[in-house]
Amino acid sequence: MNQEKLLLGPGPSNAHPSVLQAMSQPLIGHLDEDFLQIMADIKRMLQATFQTQNELTFAVSAPGSAGMETCLVNLLEPGDEAVICIHGVFGNRMADIAERCGAKVIKVEAPWGEAIDPDQVREALKICRPKLVAIVHAETSTGVLQPLTEISELVHEVDSLLVVDAVTSFCGTYLNIDEWGIDAVYSGSQKCLSAPPGLSPVSFSARAVEVLNARKTKVQSWFLDLSLVSNYWQGAKRAYHHTAPISSMYALKEALNLVLQEGLKARFERHLQAHKLLKVGLEDMGFEFLVSEEYRLPMLNAIKLPVGIDDQLVRDKLLKNHQIEIGAGLGGFAGKVWRIGLMGENARPKPVSTLLSALKEII
Ligand SMILES: Cc1ncc(COP(=O)(O)O)c(C=O)c1O
Repeated sequence: MNQEKLLLGPGPSNAHPSVLQAMSQPLIGHLDEDFLQIMADIKRMLQATFQTQNELTFAVSAPGSAGMETCLVNLLEPGDEAVICIHGVFGNRMADIAERCGAKVIKVEAPWGEAIDPDQVREALKICRPKLVAIVHAETSTGVLQPLTEISELVHEVDSLLVVDAVTSFCGTYLNIDEWGIDAVYSGSQKCLSAPPGLSPVSFSARAVEVLNARKTKVQSWFLDLSLVSNYWQGAKRAYHHTAPISSMYALKEALNLVLQEGLKARFERHLQAHKLLKVGLEDMGFEFLVSEEYRLPMLNAIKLPVGIDDQLVRDKLLKNHQIEIGAGLGGFAGKVWRIGLMGENARPKPVSTLLSALKEII
């Protein structure tokens, strides 16, 4: 049996005991009426947590990257134009997938640690007629929370679709799919939802569904083709598509239950308060944040490493002596930045004080 560790990295976060307990329920068939009811419950709870009426809302049976791929491979066809905003690792991944779809990618880039300026999107939209504009709401690689409302207006003015990566923001900070006019969104189960990794909640607007229905070519991925998988998630007669990960679905249902019991507003506030507590503690120790206050993610704190601190040594000691995981910097930030996640169950005073005491002992 693995020893329990405090997961304060970029994800996964620790799951609530009742989520782990839900996973250990006996298996049932994936077309059993009882399981279809669980899927219906999950869909309803995802609509509530995404704050959407979208009919096509479900959980892809694979991690967040598969949700990303589901959005892009279904909406893009060879020859389409796609504006992809890049301000960290995950924007780059979206651009790579869109290119693999045969789309012409127009990149809008901001330095890592900064948000995309709506004016950059405005300029890009003057030189192309994109089918979609894709952007990351919470860039886990840099700790930036990207404002979306102005960009959404620009995208819809030119009749394009807005695709949003909400892997890290979902259930941790304000995200309203219908109010913000998001046409396709994907997330992950392992971050602020505090369920095990392996499922990707997604949702598509009626406009996005129209685009899907008007496709001229087959979706290049069989597994992620929404015209096939949606027959399993909705409709009077459910058709076998793949064998759903039953135990993970039990866990997702319980995790969503906990979110709705707590209430979205209270949950977002809890994430913010945990971030503020960590900020005070870290600043007292002399650490500085990478991202300016206005664009800081509460659930992913990117902090600069002061000269003289050995990145690997401190993280090793945290893990081996204190059973605490934090995240290293990615790409150009390797060795220069730590990424401290306060996601879901871990966005509470106790994990913050445990980490601060351990850091004080080590440094
Ligand atoms: C912003 C963002 N997008 C996409 C992903 C990919 O998700 P997964 O690792 O679950 O495939 C991650 C994972 O950390 C992420 O943080």
